[in-house]
Amino acid sequence: MAIQSRLGRRRLLQIGIGAAIAGCSSIRQRSRQGFGSHSLSPSALATAGFNSLAQVASRKGFFYGAASDYAMLSSDAQFAARYVENCRILVPENGLKWRALRPSPTEFDFTKTDWLFDFAVKYSLQMRGHTLVWHLSLPRWFSETVNSRNAERHLVHHIESVAGRYAGKVHSWDVVNEAIEVPDGRPDGLRKSPWLEFLGEEYIDLSFRVAAQADPEALRVYNDYGLQYDTSSHAAKRHAALRLLERLQAKGTPIQAFGIQSHLRASETRFNAEKLRQFLRDIASMGLKILITELDVSDQGLPADIEQRDRLVADAYREYLDVVLDEPAVIAVLTWGLSDRYTWLSEFKPREDGLPVRPLPLDENLERKPAWWAIAQAFDNAPLR
Ligand code: XIL
Repeated sequence: MAIQSRLGRRRLLQIGIGAAIAGCSSIRQRSRQGFGSHSLSPSALATAGFNSLAQVASRKGFFYGAASDYAMLSSDAQFAARYVENCRILVPENGLKWRALRPSPTEFDFTKTDWLFDFAVKYSLQMRGHTLVWHLSLPRWFSETVNSRNAERHLVHHIESVAGRYAGKVHSWDVVNEAIEVPDGRPDGLRKSPWLEFLGEEYIDLSFRVAAQADPEALRVYNDYGLQYDTSSHAAKRHAALRLLERLQAKGTPIQAFGIQSHLRASETRFNAEKLRQFLRDIASMGLKILITELDVSDQGLPADIEQRDRLVADAYREYLDVVLDEPAVIAVLTWGLSDRYTWLSEFKPREDGLPVRPLPLDENLERKPAWWAIAQAFDNAPLR
């Protein structure tokens, strides 16, 4: 691919500073040829800082972390060890959603999330909050209980209770998640979610205002998917997202950042770096920070051969990260999981041939895959923040 060789050349020019980097250059070349492994000893790699994704990211002034949850971190010690080695931010994958926290309209169950916050303190991880307001993962009682008369009370109570409980301990909150839907939303792109139905578009502003009061320190993020490709639906979504941001800012709504979920498909060819760069610039020019919040690369539709599959997945990570990390407003990269042992894509985007999916940096045995090396290289090549 032309873009790849151009970026590859630039990458090779950026290296060559210091002995450690010389080691990295051979890693780069090998990996670009599709070899996932490296030719240096583990200690030489460690010296070069290639022993943790978080470490490579933090050298460039941004954060790396991954989604995980109580279930795996509390029961799988080997996984937990790899997790704390690689991550600086922990994102509860499901633990902070309404369904997890709200056994009934009047109750909260913080047992597992408290455990995660303690885990984060113990291993010096930051915590990300995902998510306060979403149309999915609502508890069963929601549809029988919440209506246009009481929706505001429920929404405010939930945000005050959850963001309030963890105030001062959260790096950033996805205050509102996936409020846009094209083409099935309203003409302005807003999703016809229960919240929109009950409260009108004001629910978004209200959520940000209440979150700002409940935890003034956490960065307040609007998070959404389907934004990165050169397709008509992604273009429409980018357009609707920018209009939404403009509207929120015009009303003085205290939003501070935009989260681009980034669920990529390795088989997708409609990637236009310039259009993505422009979108990132548009957001940054509004004074907002950007987070890559749920990065993973589906291998659905790729050949079965593992070496080939892993290389294509790694290429997709590299191509995407090379573009987004060029934008200085991007302050964090989070993958949606760390190891193929635990990925939502096993269920949501399984392969037709039934083989286990391989979308994440570590394989199911917790070994580094070409994707891990591609991410480390992209981080290492990123301009300093
Ligand atoms: C997913 C989780 O990974 C799954 O375990 C769960 O069954 C459904 O939700 N966008 C989001 C995330 O914002 O919360 C979703 O997480 C993936 C898509």
